[in-house]
Amino acid sequence: MRKPLIAGNWKMNKTVSESIEFARDFVKAVSNVTDRDILICPPFTSLYPVSEIFNGTNVRLGAQNMYFEEKGAFTGEISPLMLKDAGCSFVILGHSERRHIFGESNELINKKVLSAVSHGLVPVLCVGELLEEREEGKTFDVVGSQLEEGLKGVSADSEFVIAYEPVWAIGTGKTATPELAEEVHRFLREKLSELFGSKKAESVRILYGGSVKPENVDGLMAMNNIDGALVGGASLKVESFVKIVNFGR
Ligand code: 13P
Repeated sequence: MRKPLIAGNWKMNKTVSESIEFARDFVKAVSNVTDRDILICPPFTSLYPVSEIFNGTNVRLGAQNMYFEEKGAFTGEISPLMLKDAGCSFVILGHSERRHIFGESNELINKKVLSAVSHGLVPVLCVGELLEEREEGKTFDVVGSQLEEGLKGVSADSEFVIAYEPVWAIGTGKTATPELAEEVHRFLREKLSELFGSKKAESVRILYGGSVKPENVDGLMAMNNIDGALVGGASLKVESFVKIVNFGR
């Protein structure tokens, strides 16, 4: 059985003091949760202070991006060593905002994925189609090649997480229906099975992201191939994110 993973992606939100305030309240509110994993991905500036609060709790820390090199003349970038040093165990890679606002290619994302696993960080590889790609019937082609190219060279014994985030459902209030999301999740698991074998494919967690809220999380999590959520807006308030963590209760 795959243990559910509920992840919050704060994107470019929260100052250090706002992050600390959230983290203190949040760890108390979820301290008794053991049957699902919990991850929060704050902006870089809040990683270290938040890690001091999460340390020794059931809440894991992740970053929202990284560069693939360990150090050097890469102005403005953050390395996997720095993320580990700041207390991260996960890193989101290939988020649609990185792909579409900052022009990240599958090739660059693959370098980051390989670097993350080789440094012992668990990558959360995001895939997802644009509205026009869905309308043109290209969803499976797009997410299939994002998955395959993003994971090129990754060995079956490395841990990684996949997040399906249809771009048209991010921050728009339009969630994919559970059935529509499940169809893509099932496809992604079949693709993982082709690439890594069925045993590995059955163990990989595939999260859904895109306007997940306390009101719609139960329906999504009831699907066979949806193993968690990657939550943007609704992870910014302790109350709504705690409700999402406690889905189905
Ligand atoms: P929203 O939950 O705000 O739609 O964001 C989803 C997302 O992009 C998480 O990575």
